[in-house]
Amino acid sequence: MRRIAILGSTGSIGTSTLDVVAAHPERLAVVALAAGRNRDLFLKQCEKFKPACVSVSSEEDARWLRSALNHAPEIHFGPEGLLACALHPDANTVVAAVVGAAGLQSTEAALRAGRRVCVANKESLVVGGALMKAAMEAGGGELLPVDSEHAALHQLLDGRDPQSILEVRITASGGPFREWPMARIQAATREEALNHPTWKMGPKITIDSATLMNKGLEVIEASVLFGLSVDQIAVTVHPQSQVHAMVGFRDGTYQLQVSANDMKLPIQYTLLYPDKVPGPVRPYDWEQARAWTFEAPDLERFPCLGLAYAALRAGGTAPAILNAANEMAVAAFLEGRIGFWDIQACNSEVLAHLSATPAASLEAVLAADRNARDNARSWLAMK
Ligand SMILES: NC(=O)c1ccc[n+]([C@@H]2O[C@H](COP(=O)([O-])OP(=O)(O)OC[C@H]3O[C@@H](n4cnc5c(N)ncnc54)[C@H](OP(=O)(O)O)[C@@H]3O)[C@@H](O)[C@H]2O)c1
Repeated sequence: MRRIAILGSTGSIGTSTLDVVAAHPERLAVVALAAGRNRDLFLKQCEKFKPACVSVSSEEDARWLRSALNHAPEIHFGPEGLLACALHPDANTVVAAVVGAAGLQSTEAALRAGRRVCVANKESLVVGGALMKAAMEAGGGELLPVDSEHAALHQLLDGRDPQSILEVRITASGGPFREWPMARIQAATREEALNHPTWKMGPKITIDSATLMNKGLEVIEASVLFGLSVDQIAVTVHPQSQVHAMVGFRDGTYQLQVSANDMKLPIQYTLLYPDKVPGPVRPYDWEQARAWTFEAPDLERFPCLGLAYAALRAGGTAPAILNAANEMAVAAFLEGRIGFWDIQACNSEVLAHLSATPAASLEAVLAADRNARDNARSWLAMK
């Protein structure tokens, strides 16, 4: 039985995870739920799944929840609450689905405690990739990627000799601005950027998909997860989002992973791995394959992808610096404080301004993250 703690249960990945859990009551059970500020949805989830341990962002919300609930779980709040859920002794599996570097410590702690960690929170791998792997090795934990491209790669690479791999290709939908000319992209509004053509996701990752920063973070994530060099990871734009990744072998052949674009598939894959059993998503409809197209990404109109490659090449804390700048810039864009094109400008400025140092400890990457946020804050204040 997988006894699960879901960190970020009220988000897009969190709610899909609960749908997968509900589809497999004989194999999956909820032990702990952690959310941020969405009180009403969280209350409904707690009433339905009756977790033994819960956490919310603030002490005030924790008090409100205690009075609103008609069962009495352990109730926590803040970063310690996330850790309490991640480390609950009855949980053997953690779904890391908080957004941003806020998920770093709980993901690391769960891996160190020997849990199976299904990681949607790609930022924690981008910021502290080597530390996550070290924690997993030290604690005997298991790290399975929820990102559809990386879950696809995990399936394609399972049992393969690393020497036989020429390259991997992760696909990108191209986002809402794939066909837009530069001038129109530069003036894109919040509503236009939030209008993703193929995936329904939380606001931060939706903006990252419009800038292609999301794909850049995923290139870094692939390097961490599969030990690939920067030159072995390519991006192919595939607007239909049905082929999620491809692996090229040294004999000149490729294998592709195909499925409907529904996150419940990779979530179920990570929860039930290595089993593949019927779940809440229907088998792939091959009529849709008639429309498949593939093209190269345009780094001029989408410079954030190039910045991620640069950060991966620079190594050390460079990915953490880029990620922190991007989190600050995306938040400012969503709040209407800066324009769409300012996101890449902020990321580029902060990455160029700060020197990367070795990402040797959690303290080192957290310091780089703080420093980059301060730098980005100053840059954004001048806009
Ligand atoms: N959505 C997708 O299809 C998708 C696909 C691949 C990877 N991912 C990755 O999965 C992660 C989650 O994405 P999402 O789209 O599900 O985001 P989302 O819809 O914005 O949900 C984020 C979740 O995290 C919670 N949260 C945020 N900050 C928190 C904090 N400091 N402490 C505790 N909880 C906190 C939110 O709580 P409240 O809402 O209650 O405030 C919410 O439950 C991201 O790293 C994203 O890149 C998402």
